[in-house]
Amino acid sequence: MGKKLWSGRFSGPMLPELERFASSLEMDYELYPYDVAGSLAHARGLAAARLLSKTQATAIERGLRRVKRELDEGAFKFRPTDEDIHTAIERRLTEITPAGASLHAGRSRNDQIALDLRLFCRDAAAEATVGLAALIEALASKALTHAGWLMPGYTHLQRAQPVTLGHHLLAHAEPLLRDAARFRQAYASSGEMPLGSGALAATTLPLRRDVVARELGFTRLTENSIDAVSDRDFALDLAYACAVLGIHLSRLGEDIVLWASAEFGFVTLADEISTGSSLMPQKKNPDVAELLRGRAARSLGSLVALATTLKGLPLAYDRDLQEDKTALFATVDNTFDCLEAAAILVEHLEFDRQRLAAAAGDPSMLATDAAEELVRGGTAFRKAHQEVAGQVREGTFATSFNAKSSVAGRDLVGGPNQRRVAARARVVRREAVALRRWGQKRPTPLHER
Ligand code: ARG
Repeated sequence: MGKKLWSGRFSGPMLPELERFASSLEMDYELYPYDVAGSLAHARGLAAARLLSKTQATAIERGLRRVKRELDEGAFKFRPTDEDIHTAIERRLTEITPAGASLHAGRSRNDQIALDLRLFCRDAAAEATVGLAALIEALASKALTHAGWLMPGYTHLQRAQPVTLGHHLLAHAEPLLRDAARFRQAYASSGEMPLGSGALAATTLPLRRDVVARELGFTRLTENSIDAVSDRDFALDLAYACAVLGIHLSRLGEDIVLWASAEFGFVTLADEISTGSSLMPQKKNPDVAELLRGRAARSLGSLVALATTLKGLPLAYDRDLQEDKTALFATVDNTFDCLEAAAILVEHLEFDRQRLAAAAGDPSMLATDAAEELVRGGTAFRKAHQEVAGQVREGTFATSFNAKSSVAGRDLVGGPNQRRVAARARVVRREAVALRRWGQKRPTPLHER
C-alpha cells in the first residue's frame, strides 16, 4: 500500500508540494456518500454482467458499507497518497477485501466524479426546494394575515400608489415559486446516469448501465460518453438557480432593512432577530436582512466561477473540472443558510399597522385613481393625466378616493385587492406544501437501503 492507484506507469512519486496542489480530497471529501452509493451500484451492475462473482459482489458491498461507516464516524484514516475521495475509498475497500481490486472495471474517476456530482446536485436541488417551501409558506402566511393592511407602493423608492401589505409580501413569494421551478429544472438536468462512459470512450466490457441507473434512481442514461464526462451544465443549472434565488433574497433583505429604519418604521425588529452595536447603546440593527443582501455576492460569484471553469475546455475530461466543486459547494451551502435565515426572519416580522396606514394615507398617491375616474367618464387618458397633474401642481388636487377604496378598486388578476390577495396567498401556501412534498420524496440513497 501507500502507492497511487495509477503508480504502475511511474517509476517514482510526484513531488509532495505538487501532490498537495493536485489533491482534491479537501473539497470532494463531502461527496463520499454519493461515491459509496455509486460504487455500490457499479458493483451490482458488474455482478449483473457477471464481471464479478456473487462472492466478490457481496464482499465488495459489505466492504463499502464498512468504509461508509468509518467515514460517517470519522474513523476513516486518510493517507497522503489518497489524492481524492474516489481513490481513498477504493484504497480502503481493497484493504478490507481483495475483491475491491475488481471494482474499478469499466469505470474511470472521470465518470465516477461525473456521477457523484450529479447525485449531489440532485439532492441539493431537492433540499433547496424544501427550504424554499418553508420560506414561501412563511411569506404566504404573513400575506394572509396582512392581506388588507394598507401601505404605500413605491417606484423609484418614491411613494406611488397604495397597495396592501399582503400584496407586497406576495411579490416576494411569487419569484420564489419560480426559483423552485428552477431548482426542479436543475434536478431534472442532473437526471442522466453517466457510469459506463469510462475515461471518455466507454468500455469494451458489457456493463449493465440500466441496472446501475435503476439502483440509483435515474430514469435516463447519458447518450455520449465524451459529453458525459466533460460537461457540468447540470451543475451550472443549480448554480444559476442559487444565484437567482440569491438576488431575490437580497431584494427581500433590502426591503426589510428599509422598513426597519426610523424613516419608514414599518416593521419592528424583535430581539431574537436583531443585533446591537458595540458602541452605540441605542442601536438595534437588521443584520440578518443585510446579510441576505450581502450573501448574494457569494452565489453570484460561484456562478461566474463555475461558468469560467467550463469555458473553453477541450473535450473531454480536464483536471480544471476539479475546481467545479469549490464553487458549487459554496453556493449550495450558502443557499441552505440563507433560506433558513430568511424563513426565520420573515416569521418574526412584526408590522406597524398605524405607520403603514399613515404612509398609505398620503393623498397624492390617489392621483392615478382620479385620472382613471375621468377615463371612466369618457375622457382620454392622456387628457385626464394632464388635468390631474395640473391640480397636483397647483396644490388644488382633491378626490373622493381614499387608500382603502383605491386598493379595493384594483380588483383584477394580479391586483392588490384584499380579497384577491387573500385568495392568492392561500394558493401560494398550497403550492409551498406541494413543493415540500416533492423535495422530500427523493429516491432513497442506495447506502441507506
Ligand atoms: N478529483 C477529480 C475531480 O474532482 C476526479 C477525477 C480525476 N480524474 C483524473 N483523470 N485525474 O475532477
